[in-house]
Amino acid sequence: MDSLAAVDWTAYEQEALKAIEGALSESELDDARVKYLGRKSELAQALRAVRDRESGMLLNGIRARLEAAVLAREHDLLRVAYEAAADSGVDVTIPGHPVRRGRLHLLTQIRREIEDIFLGMGYEVWDGAEVATTWENFDALTSDPGHPSRSQFDTFYLDDDTVLRTHTSPDQIRAMQQRTPPVYLVSPGRCYRRDTPDATHSPIFLQVECLAVDRGITLADLQGTVLQFFRALFGQEREVRMRTSFFPFTEPSVEFDVTCFICGGRGCGTCKHSGWIEMGGAGWVDPDVFRNVDLDPAEWQGFAFGFGIERIAMLRHGLPDLRAFWENDLRVLGQF
Ligand code: PHE
Repeated sequence: MDSLAAVDWTAYEQEALKAIEGALSESELDDARVKYLGRKSELAQALRAVRDRESGMLLNGIRARLEAAVLAREHDLLRVAYEAAADSGVDVTIPGHPVRRGRLHLLTQIRREIEDIFLGMGYEVWDGAEVATTWENFDALTSDPGHPSRSQFDTFYLDDDTVLRTHTSPDQIRAMQQRTPPVYLVSPGRCYRRDTPDATHSPIFLQVECLAVDRGITLADLQGTVLQFFRALFGQEREVRMRTSFFPFTEPSVEFDVTCFICGGRGCGTCKHSGWIEMGGAGWVDPDVFRNVDLDPAEWQGFAFGFGIERIAMLRHGLPDLRAFWENDLRVLGQF
């Protein structure tokens, strides 16, 4: 065979071994490997041309011995490098830096927990849009045209008719337009207000909206659902109380408190010694809201409630400043 005849394979092997064993660095070793074992090496070319068993055995034998020599030399060079490092005072037996495992952001953990509880009660998780029309965010929710919350000082406007939603309540509107009742949904997501960041305010925050629309719903259903939800979240011994309030899109409207889940209602710093923690807003869907989405309030009734996720996270973990959620300092986030 030509390729066999043209090369003195004994000399080839000796020359290769000399180059491999004499390599003084990883790159020299690599050069030798490429030259004598690489795809374009005489050995590789001859191996590709081999047609008979004897030549194959000869060449494969050379290849195996050279590969073993490369490995051995690699090992030697590594040991030499380690020893050199050790001589210079570096302790090469110290374990490497552990790779930090990622984890879900605390707010994401709580959001998922909330979603799971609602899923367990038969609710649909609704993925609302953060950009809303002024009609969805205000008008359809029967918010007064002159209300200060509409002003440029409180709301981020994208143009005259479009805003970054200031609460998750516009999801009520879209959901009622897109679904045929009965509707049971929970919509968690980011909301935006032009607040200056401080310990308890952030221009971006997370709210959760819950909406139930069905026939024959009563205020007792609202109360029962809120109670069941917060017991699932904070423990079965929690109680809920409602205080009358006002929202443009609910009538009647309430704000609800949960017995303090830090002290159990006895009174502590977290609940300002009242035993109660303010949790969110709720109410009976206003008939005008139903009319705005072409539902007949004589046929359909509903309740809605909303609350913030940061507040829950802060209270539950005793965090003093909500800016920590957005600063993404791993020393803080890694604790949860
Ligand atoms: N959207 C209201 C807020 O941002 C909360 C709310 C939701 C009130 C649903 C009533 C019903 O404060």
